[in-house]
Amino acid sequence: MDIKKYLNDKKEAVDSFLHAYFKEQRRPALLHEAMLYSLFAGGKRIRPVLAIASYEACGGKSDEIVPYASALEVIHTYSLIHDDLPAMDNDDLRRGKPTSHKVYGETIAILAGDALLTDAFSLLSDTTFCHTIKETDLLKALHEISIASGSMGMVAGQAQDILSENSVPDKNMLQFIHIHKTTAIICASVKLGCILAGGKPEKLEAISSYGMGIGLAFQVVDDILNVEGDTKEMGKAAGSDAKTNKMTYPSLYGIEESRQISKKLISDAIDSLASFSSAADPLREIALYLLNRRN
Ligand code: IPE
Ligand code: IPE
Ligand code: MG
Ligand code: MG
Repeated sequence: MDIKKYLNDKKEAVDSFLHAYFKEQRRPALLHEAMLYSLFAGGKRIRPVLAIASYEACGGKSDEIVPYASALEVIHTYSLIHDDLPAMDNDDLRRGKPTSHKVYGETIAILAGDALLTDAFSLLSDTTFCHTIKETDLLKALHEISIASGSMGMVAGQAQDILSENSVPDKNMLQFIHIHKTTAIICASVKLGCILAGGKPEKLEAISSYGMGIGLAFQVVDDILNVEGDTKEMGKAAGSDAKTNKMTYPSLYGIEESRQISKKLISDAIDSLASFSSAADPLREIALYLLNRRN
């Protein structure tokens, strides 16, 4: 299969939904502008694409998944705006553009993040998009996304990431940080697709272990790219983890072992889809794409 085309087609579906959903100008204009600035700065849209691929792998057939998958990108964009703030990672470049607080100031950047997070849940709880998707399944998926985003998920990881700067490297702590700050939402994305397709418990279990594997590998690769990658190609600063003394896979395991770890996680993730037909090929291909990405 042509995975580049697949990623591009799904990304376009998500982008066109998000454009339509946020097109109405709201007051204050500056807040709305800041939200759209980060949302359309040019992300890979990998979380929504994973949700759609998982939905299709689990037998989902309609476009009804697109709004709910898109909500994941809205949550993710908020997390990036806040991640870059001076009180967090203090970064000036994101998605190839100046970060939100550089353009709009910290106050509006914080509020744009707050608004995106909250609006994502208004979208996720909007049943007007549900025809074949069951409302009870939507509620179940919404619960998964809430857990993955909050104090038991991404926010816990973000807090521990900052708290662990400059501290003695520790493998359990590193695992905790990565599983929470990044894996949680990636895993919840594929779970959302499976749940909204009405996937059976054994399918959901297999999808979850795929999600855990690619989610952790995603952050290991991100850590490697922070050391080896190119600022221009990534659209964000290379070398920042070493400057802020972050706890990362390369800092604990070195680059070579980190690469081996990410490879093993990806190959195990693909193995966990053994019971799926060729409908799961996009998920298999995306796993390999994430391992070899340059941005
Ligand atoms: C970056 O995520 C933040 C991490 C969780 C490592 P992505 O690599 O998905 O960033 P975009 O959305 O493509 O900009
Ligand atoms: C980002 O982690 C995780 C979230 C935004 C939740 P990092 O801080 O390591 O990612 P980058 O390198 O800034 O994208
Ligand atoms: Mg960070
Ligand atoms: Mg960061």
